[in-house]
Amino acid sequence: MSVHSNVKRVTTHVLQEMKQKGEKIAMLTAYDFSMARIYDAAKIDVILVGDSASNVMAGHETTLPITLDQMIYHASSVIRGVKRALVVVDLPFGTYQGNSRKALDSAIRIMKESGAHAVKLEGGSEIKESIVRILSAGIPVMGHLGLTPQSIYKFGTYQVRAKEEAEAAKLIEDAMMLQEIGCFAMVLEKIPAHLATKVSQKLDIPTIGIGAGSGADGQVLVSHDLLGITKDFSPRFLRRYLSLYEEIKGAVEQYIQDVRDVDFPNEKEQY
Ligand code: KIV
Repeated sequence: MSVHSNVKRVTTHVLQEMKQKGEKIAMLTAYDFSMARIYDAAKIDVILVGDSASNVMAGHETTLPITLDQMIYHASSVIRGVKRALVVVDLPFGTYQGNSRKALDSAIRIMKESGAHAVKLEGGSEIKESIVRILSAGIPVMGHLGLTPQSIYKFGTYQVRAKEEAEAAKLIEDAMMLQEIGCFAMVLEKIPAHLATKVSQKLDIPTIGIGAGSGADGQVLVSHDLLGITKDFSPRFLRRYLSLYEEIKGAVEQYIQDVRDVDFPNEKEQY
């Protein structure tokens, strides 16, 4: 229970218990106060302030350009809308790779300046030192394996990862390592369903899948994809629950028409 409200907060321990009880975890991205408030009211378990903000909020082609300051801005806006969900924030590209001191400084800035509850980092053995150092400061860490969009220029494509035996074996090894050093959960992105199931069964900590089948302990989607605000992105794993692009466009077209026809505002809509 939080000191400031009587809402029972989702913590990393709650997620652990959910896995033990076989209850699936629902996670969704959010980048601003208004949407975070709606998702929290709907009782989403985890809100991820993803670096996908670089794509869906800022219009960049990749997640690489977003900065630590921009992530902190998004995260602090989200935090103000949340009473219940666990809020996890992506460490952006260039703020943790290859320098564990810098990684710790970046994570501390996120926690201190946004009020978030945990951070997420992409990668396995190559970033182990950074994760260990962040964990040693008492900051909960969510891992992220499989397709790691910050490495897009190394992979060359956004295709399914770990289809080959060697890459699958490395992923399993990395997953075990992340658990061993103390991560509380991990995202498994775009890997074969049978591999995600195997990893999830091997681990005691929860896995959250995206394009990884139903065997993961939870699911995450980019909220703009789920809501149909993005239009030209339709991977097989995506289920759209709304077509907001069309609905918002229709509403705006109607508003423009009403203004031009002097239909808006009417007599009741003025003083
Ligand atoms: O940035 C993001 O939205 C993510 C999810 C796709 C897991 O990392």
